[in-house]
Parts: sequence; structure tokens; C-alpha cells
Amino acid sequence: MSGNKTFTMIKPGAVRNGHIGAILAQINAAGFRIVALKYTKLSKEKAGEFYAVHKERPFYGELCDFMSSGPIVAAILEKDNAVEDFRTLIGATNPADAAEGTIRAKYATSIGENAVHGSDSDLNASIEGNFHFAGTEMF
Ligand code: RTP
Ligand code: MG
Repeated sequence: MSGNKTFTMIKPGAVRNGHIGAILAQINAAGFRIVALKYTKLSKEKAGEFYAVHKERPFYGELCDFMSSGPIVAAILEKDNAVEDFRTLIGATNPADAAEGTIRAKYATSIGENAVHGSDSDLNASIEGNFHFAGTEMF
């Protein structure tokens, strides 16, 4: 996996609140093509592995508890300039700071429960996509 791809998760809060369809529709309308898609659940251990980069941060335990609290939708998305354009589409980490119309402004309830994940670099997009999907699940 390389090039114009990013990785996202619709987080457990947005799944519980019934926003899977609306979020996927907004992602498609923004011009992203779905390369891989999965409805799944992270164990606390897997959530910890995924967010290991944050393990020294004060919110790490809370983040792992939340991310393993229910099912998620994981996806690899393709578009020119995917990483940056997707982060623009989702808005700031804290929904209070997220631009109007962004996915986090519309569907996040707090900084901790902020509706979606978006990769922060091409390298991390590749690592995160490969964390969730086998090559045979990418199209
Ligand atoms: P993400 O990785 O989920 O796409 O979010 P991000 O890049 O916008 O933010 P990042 O700094 O990578 O933080 C990862 C996730 O940790 C939670 N967080 N909680 N309570 C807090 O102060 C706090 N800060 C960050 C958020 O769920 C954030 O998305
Ligand atoms: Mg991040």
C-alpha cells in the first residue's frame, strides 16, 4: 500500500449513535474511493497497539478503553492528497474547534469521543491499513 491512500476508523461512539451511513456517505461525496472496509471490534490490547504512539500521554488509558468499547468501521480510502484532504474533511481533534460541516463538527461529542480517526502521514496510513487489512481485502 502506498501513494494517495489514508486509513480511517468510525469510532465506537459514532457507531453507537447511528452515524455509520451518514459518515460513509460524506466520505464518498468528498471523492474518496473505498479500497477496504470492515465492521469489527478492537480488543483493549489491539487498541493499545494501534495507539502505542500515545502511550505516555495522560489520555492513553481512556483512549484504549473507548476504542475497545464497541464495534468500529475500519476503512482504507483513496484520493489524490488523501491524508491531508481527509484530515480537512474530518476537522480538528477537538470538535469544539472543528470547522462547520466537518465530520467531527457534525458527529463528535467530545475530544475523546471524536467520531473518526484519520491517519496523519502516508507512512502511518500504510502501517494502519496493514494493521487492519490483509492484501486480499484491499481492492
Ligand atoms: P486520530 O489519531 O484519532 O485521528 O486523532 P488526531 O490525530 O486528531 O489526534 P491525536 O493527537 O492523534 O490523538 C488521538 C486521539 O486521542 C484522543 N485524545 N484525547 N482527552 C484528550 O485530551 C485527548 N486528546 C486526544 C482523541 O480521541 C484523539 O482522536
Ligand atoms: Mg492521530
